This record gives sequence, C-alpha cells and structure tokens, in this order.
Amino acid sequence: MKISALDLKKQIAPIRPELDSAIKEIIDSTSFILGAGVDRFERRAAEYSGAKYAVGVSNGTDAISLALLALGIKAGDGVICPAFTYYATAGAVANIGARPVFADIDKKTYNLSPESVEKILSRKSKFKIKAIVPVHLYGACAEMGGIVRLARKYKIKIIEDNAQSFGAEYKGQKAGTLGDCGTVSFYPGKNLGAFGDAGMVLTNNKETAEKLKILRNQGNEDRYYHIMLGRNNRLDTLQAAVLEVKLKYLDSWNKARQEVARYYDRNLSGLNILLPVIPAYSTHVYNQYVIRTPLPNKLFLEHMQAKGIDARIFYPLPLHLQKCFKYLGYKTGDFPEGEKAAKQTLALPIYPDLTKEEKDYIIQSIKEFIGGK
Ligand SMILES: Cc1ncc(COP(=O)(O)O)c(C=O)c1O
Repeated sequence: MKISALDLKKQIAPIRPELDSAIKEIIDSTSFILGAGVDRFERRAAEYSGAKYAVGVSNGTDAISLALLALGIKAGDGVICPAFTYYATAGAVANIGARPVFADIDKKTYNLSPESVEKILSRKSKFKIKAIVPVHLYGACAEMGGIVRLARKYKIKIIEDNAQSFGAEYKGQKAGTLGDCGTVSFYPGKNLGAFGDAGMVLTNNKETAEKLKILRNQGNEDRYYHIMLGRNNRLDTLQAAVLEVKLKYLDSWNKARQEVARYYDRNLSGLNILLPVIPAYSTHVYNQYVIRTPLPNKLFLEHMQAKGIDARIFYPLPLHLQKCFKYLGYKTGDFPEGEKAAKQTLALPIYPDLTKEEKDYIIQSIKEFIGGK
C-alpha cells in the first residue's frame, strides 16, 4: 500500500467550487495586491484567533523577521530560539542580522524548555538578548506560562512561532496571542494551507500592527513615501481568498486530525513507543503526529518507506549543528535533548482523510518494526 504524508487532493475536492469562485472573484476584480481580499481575511483570522490585529504577509519565515523588526530587534541583538525546530525559526532571526541564541527543548513535548531559557538569561552573555521565539512545535503549545514569566523578568519580547499550531489553545487562549507577536505559516502542508506561500503576524498591539503593515509593504506610509526600510513581504490577495474559504473548515479539519491521533494513541499504547504528549495547558492540532523509540529513526524511516509509507523525520539535525550556523560556535553535546530527538523521532502520516485501512496498515508496520528489533 502507498500512503502519502499528506493528501491535499482529498481536502480540496469537496470545497473546490467555493475555492474556484473565490479565485475567480479576485481575477475579475484584478485587485491582486493587498486590497479588500486581504483586509477581509485579516479580519477573519483575527476573529478566529482572538488577536486584536492580524497582518497578512508573504510566508511564515518573513512573518518572524517582520515581527522582530516591528518589535525593534536589530542587527547584533541576541534572540533565543529552540535548538530543535525547523530552520526558519532561527533563519529568520539571522537574516535580519540578529544572533540566534539556542536553548534546549523539553524531552517530552519537544518544545522550548523554560529551564534551559532561564539558564541562558541568567548568565552573562556577549550579546544583549532582546527577544525569545518559542515554537509551538508539531501542533501543541510551548509552556508559555514559564516563558512569559521569564520575558517579563528579563524585559525581553516574545514572538511565538505558531507556524505549526494555528488553532491550538494554551489554557483556552489561541496560540499566537500570548506573546508580543505570534507568527503563522500557511505553507500548503500546514493545517491551514494556502495554494503557495503565505503567512501572518498576530498581535494585540496597535502600534506594532501598524508598523508591520508598513514594513511588509516596502516601508510605504503613503505610496512612494518610505518612512522605514521595509521589505516586499505582502500576502498575495489570491492566497488570502483561498485561505478565507479554508479557514471556515479549519476547526473541523483539526478535529478530524485529533480523531486520527486518538486512533494511533489507542493502537500504539503499551509498546515501547513514546506517543505525543498533550500537556495539561495545551490542546494539540497535530500538524504532525510524532512518535519516538529508542531505536535509530533512520532505520525506522527506511522500514516505513519500504512499506510504502511516507513517514518523515522532523528534524534530523538540530539547528546548532547545522553548517549555516557554524559561525555561532556551538558543538555536539550542547543541547542533548534536541540532539536525541533528532535521532529518535518519526512523524507518521496524519491528515483528516486517512482511511481506517491506511491507519491500520501504518500501525501494523510500526509493530513489525518494533517487534522485529
Ligand atoms: C516551526 C516553523 N517555523 C517557521 C516556518 C516557516 O514558514 P514558511 O515555510 O511559511 O516560511 C515553518 C514552516 O515551514 C515552521 O514549521
């Protein structure tokens, strides 16, 4: 059997007429850059997330860079990021000239460990640390209580990287609204995915939102009057139209993902596998369903691929050991939990339309690997 990591055709088919008509409306209007389509989606996304302001941008990476710039983070400032996350979290920091300062993750949730952050903040650093970027990895929130306390104590800004957790909640509040800014990726494989690149910054601060709108649009306040060194990081109006249609379905898709996760949970418990942990403070929207065994994940991946299952390793090399961050001077052993997670975790296919037959086949293939070793 062949099982892909994600099947967008199944997601799109039932809502195709709505999507086609939303796209047609934009084409007919010829309003392709910003305009009413983007404004409307921003309003819907703000309503959905409970943020006062939502600013549509080009992708989730630029969303982080723009949020940092809007919050006054400059070249040379230190920004704490988890050592174990997708490259873009730290790439967005480094690309504005700021310096990623890595911290380790919690071994059960894979999210930033407040203890590791406190260690960094309480010691003398060569770089003035101005911000922290907790990531809500795989679909569940980082321990924001501890992170917010530290940010207040050390007077630093928080940018939540909510690329993978749009719709998740921390103690009843939507992820992305707990810090100074929350950034979202609408990459096609995310729970709410565009038909290309797209992203967003959420904030409750009016001044920050206004700054973000100027920064994403070439620093324009009025056309051809540039009051800041802005960038071309606007959200495409066509993408906003697609996202506005899809947003209506997000909660039901997330619920369906949760049901798939429950099925995996039930059928994989009792084996020597660490299943995804849902911390008491968070819900989980399962952008990824990540399991962990003491066995090397590369062998596990080979086994699953041989069975035709498109499992994935997110992520095989932590950021502090990536070539591009060599200049930061980290070494193996600096972040043991991130390093272990990179060697032991595997993401299973998870999406709303996975059939029972497919889920059972995946579960059986996992059991074969565990039992066969
Ligand atoms: C944790 C995390 N941060 C940032 C990003 C960057 O988002 P994008 O691909 O939209 O630039 C992603 C998505 O790929 C991500 O998973």
